Amino acid sequence: MTQAKILVARAVFPEVIASLQAHFEVTSNQDDVVWTKAQLIEQLQGKDGALTTGSERIDADVLAACPQLKIAANMAVGYNNFDLVAMSHHGVQGTNTPDVLTDTTADFGFALMMATARRMTESEHFLRRGEWTKWRYDMFMGSDIHGATLGILGMGRIGQGIAQRGAHGFGMKVIYHNRSRLDPAAEARCQATYVSKEDLLKRADHLVLVLPYSAESHHSIGAAELAQMKPTATLVNIARGGIVDDAALAAALKARTIAAAGLDVFEGEPQVHPDLLTLPNVVLTPHIASASGPTRLAMAKLAADNLVAFFKQNAVLTPVNSVVSAIK
Ligand code: DGY
Repeated sequence: MTQAKILVARAVFPEVIASLQAHFEVTSNQDDVVWTKAQLIEQLQGKDGALTTGSERIDADVLAACPQLKIAANMAVGYNNFDLVAMSHHGVQGTNTPDVLTDTTADFGFALMMATARRMTESEHFLRRGEWTKWRYDMFMGSDIHGATLGILGMGRIGQGIAQRGAHGFGMKVIYHNRSRLDPAAEARCQATYVSKEDLLKRADHLVLVLPYSAESHHSIGAAELAQMKPTATLVNIARGGIVDDAALAAALKARTIAAAGLDVFEGEPQVHPDLLTLPNVVLTPHIASASGPTRLAMAKLAADNLVAFFKQNAVLTPVNSVVSAIK
């Protein structure tokens, strides 16, 4: 039987490439070139499966040009780079990497919230510039985490992880808004109270965004929403660029209608809105919320395991659409 042909679309752990090579004919991109759509199509020609990341968009054009493709295994929990309607239409299976990154990402969301509230990068830059000449009572005063109201927009696994850290570790009052309300047991576990989006915006001292990106969630936080937040509030986005209107956020931070923001994801990343780069009251990180060594390895292994399960057992571990029995 001929081996399935797999494209690994970005650089990944060498041991994961080796594990794929035990089963498949593998073409990999260890030089980590970020391909244009035309280059991706060229590389995908004749490939049966692909290990993708958020930078490879699998859409109708790609699918039409690569009819042999049967599965795209994303090394990410988010899969807004997949056009799921088109993939299902073409009988292409999509998979993601949930669970393995929940705690690492929740840890990071919490860290970014703390760094933002306590002005850690702003004060570090001040120190590095050699401007620290004396202690002063009001130097880099921020806001407290303990006892504050933590607002969470999007209460999936990562949102619940952040809620539990806030409620149990820091005595925070947790409020959340989500498309659907959690069941009572999950609400009790998170000590979280369901509120309307309007209430969330008005009451949160620290608002963390953890919702998936879609056409519906595009600019969920724009000028109108920012205007409803407390002037002392902080906003953290570890979800996806595009959920926040970055231009409106930069304007709010500049006018200090909210106190500060912590951003790990950006509209049009790796480009960052130029105003955000000049503002002192924003902590910026380059989409690293899931980037602990063990977690990134677990994500890559899960993506690879999905490819193996698909071609060897006609099953996948973590599907995001339901075409698995339709091996072409
Ligand atoms: C995810 O898993 O969705 C992270 O954002 C990494 O892309």
